[in-house]
Amino acid sequence: MSYYNQLNIGLFGFGVVGEGIYKVLEQKPQLHATIKKICIKHPEKDRNAPAELFTTDADDILNDKTIDVVVELINDAAAAMDITRKAMNSGKSVVSANKKMIAENMAELLDLQRKNKVSFLYEAAVCGSVPIIRNLEEYFDNDLLTSVSGIVNGSTNFILSEMAGKKIPYLESLKKAQELGFAETDPSLDVEGIDAAYKLSIILFHAFGLLIDYSQIIRKGIVSIDSFDFQYALEKRKTIKLVATTKWNSDNTLTAYVLPTFVNKNTVLSTVHNEYNGVLIGSTLADEQFLFGKGAGRYPTSSAVLSDISALKYDYKYAYKKSQRNQSVQLKNEQNITVYISFSKNEKIDLDLFSEIHESFVGKERSYLIGDIPFQALVNSDFWRNEQFSIIANPAFTSGNE
Ligand code: HSE
Repeated sequence: MSYYNQLNIGLFGFGVVGEGIYKVLEQKPQLHATIKKICIKHPEKDRNAPAELFTTDADDILNDKTIDVVVELINDAAAAMDITRKAMNSGKSVVSANKKMIAENMAELLDLQRKNKVSFLYEAAVCGSVPIIRNLEEYFDNDLLTSVSGIVNGSTNFILSEMAGKKIPYLESLKKAQELGFAETDPSLDVEGIDAAYKLSIILFHAFGLLIDYSQIIRKGIVSIDSFDFQYALEKRKTIKLVATTKWNSDNTLTAYVLPTFVNKNTVLSTVHNEYNGVLIGSTLADEQFLFGKGAGRYPTSSAVLSDISALKYDYKYAYKKSQRNQSVQLKNEQNITVYISFSKNEKIDLDLFSEIHESFVGKERSYLIGDIPFQALVNSDFWRNEQFSIIANPAFTSGNE
């Protein structure tokens, strides 16, 4: 394929992103990519594209030898995997935004790419428009990475921004995130931190070469965050963000988790509002760098998909070099974590689990404590899954300047 070769695309899904891609490619012939067929599930719906482009038969794309690229933008991860598998086995490259499919099937997706010598690109699956995957793959290849952490889910960041800034209740903010097209069809994936764990597992693979099942990532979502917690944050000049973190430990292990986190107002993560995402990349030589941009929504996602389509014109493939180098690296969450836990007066907490309590407060309606607890003890505790307890990481806690 030469750079100016025309790409013929078979598109699966004509939702918000699919339609966005279609429109951009139609208006920009200089991108040298044409949508030849669009496979949809509901032919009865009105579509803003010529009727002859649409089909309900996946084979019209998969068996068409003139189609070189499949762009897969459907919601159902199992169906998306089936399409992706068939497309790659037919010698077609695939562009996808489906983080669930990728997180659940990374090992097979690697085999399919190698076996069929095709590309599989998915920049849009992690942080929307922010080019995190290609940066981790290409740019951060020589300088030793020490950490990658940040806000990787636009919906929860939107909800937390509404709750903190405008004091809008949780359910109302969630509804708004859904209306704006940021949330997943099943929004529990967003608010329970599952979407962030999918994305963090993909980041772990590209940053450090560690391939794990996303379910091994310790995660807690934002469902139990209370207005009392925002009041505490306000008083301490902090805000609350859902932060996905991975850190390189000196013994060739990695720590990885997704947790609501208190972020000091004077730090860059606190400036990431609404559906924006922001990722801090720590490395030995460069110290810390920050990638920031829109993480959800039609056009930001379309931007990353289009970038992948353009990259296919010069046969770009992820090299996955780090996975070949770092084969002995493992996941290990054994250290202590400093957490803030708030709970109503009817709840009890086992203080013996903590190695140190830094601060506690007993209020009429709600109380809190801040202490150090071994990560595994936290996850195994009775209060970890109890929605009456709000658990927020408090990494920058020091009694002196709180
Ligand atoms: N629901 C996802 C989010 C969409 O809010 O970040 C983009 O992956």
